[in-house]
Amino acid sequence: MGRYLCVSFAAIFLFTETIHLCLGVNSTLRCREQERQALLNFKQSFRDTANRLFSWNGYDCCQWDTVTCSNVTGRVVKLDLRNPSNSSSLEYALDAQEVHPSLLQLEYLNYLDLSRNNFLSSPIPLFFGSFKDMRFLSLFDANFSGKTPHNLGNLSKLRYLDLSYNTLQIDDINLISQLSSMKILSLNGLYLGKTQNLFQVLDMLPSLSQIELMSCGLNELHSHQLVRAKSI
Ligand SMILES: *[C@@H]1O[C@H](CO)[C@@H](O)[C@H](O)[C@H]1NC(C)=O
Ligand SMILES: *[C@@H]1O[C@H](CO)[C@@H](O)[C@H](O)[C@H]1NC(C)=O
Ligand SMILES: *[C@@H]1O[C@H](CO)[C@@H](O)[C@H](O)[C@H]1NC(C)=O
Ligand SMILES: *[C@@H]1O[C@H](CO)[C@@H](O)[C@H](O)[C@H]1NC(C)=O
Ligand SMILES: *[C@@H]1O[C@H](CO)[C@@H](O)[C@H](O)[C@H]1NC(C)=O
Repeated sequence: MGRYLCVSFAAIFLFTETIHLCLGVNSTLRCREQERQALLNFKQSFRDTANRLFSWNGYDCCQWDTVTCSNVTGRVVKLDLRNPSNSSSLEYALDAQEVHPSLLQLEYLNYLDLSRNNFLSSPIPLFFGSFKDMRFLSLFDANFSGKTPHNLGNLSKLRYLDLSYNTLQIDDINLISQLSSMKILSLNGLYLGKTQNLFQVLDMLPSLSQIELMSCGLNELHSHQLVRAKSI
């Protein structure tokens, strides 16, 4: 009996593998169970009124909507959870008390977009500093508040960072100076009026090509600094 079961399982296994090969799907690159669990826990942390994450079930998380895996390693590398509706519509926002720490298990994440969701005034978690491959991070208009953690400075590969329109403080602008790969930086609506040396710090970023500082409480004195920094 046991042997027959085994044989039929083996047959089914071979059959599905053959289908995968015929379809050109590389079955060794299916989602890792640990990452699948992490995503399911992350999903659980949201109130998802529009049921945006409905496709998040089944074995292969690499097939789930908004999840992208590396086609080389099969690890989850991109999570694009930005609210697809524009401006005032909150009906598509995912709500959560915090960014659930299960995210940390997606250690090869290089692209994370949480913009226009609602993290209910929680802080940016310290663990964001440990995504060593992170290149793109958007927390635009996602109801984060409190201090911007110093650890973000650890993201040395980060090229795009959008923290606009959250009630965040940046206590020490030197955290920006460590983001040595930064190309596009958006800090609209963050109060920066008290930051020292803002433009000197920005001017030291070798790859910076775009910076947005609307409604940051900057005055003419700061603009004067910008002109000076540019002319050096
Ligand atoms: C599947 O992936 C493995 C490991 O990445 C690779 O060695 C192999 O050539 C791939 N097979 C196909 C059919 O693409
Ligand atoms: C992997 O995907 C990238 C685009 O994301 C593509 O340029 C590349 O050719 C793909 N590599 C393989 C082996 O399919
Ligand atoms: C944004 O809102 C406008 C007006 O409500 C609508 O016409 C447009 O399709 C929306 N765009 C997206 C991408 O949802
Ligand atoms: C942000 O979160 C706070 C705390 O939960 C909540 O009271 C507020 O309504 C939220 N803001 C927006 C714009 O949703
Ligand atoms: C991030 O940087 C801080 C210093 O700003 C350091 O103490 C910490 O060990 C780093 N953390 C990680 C997870 O790399």
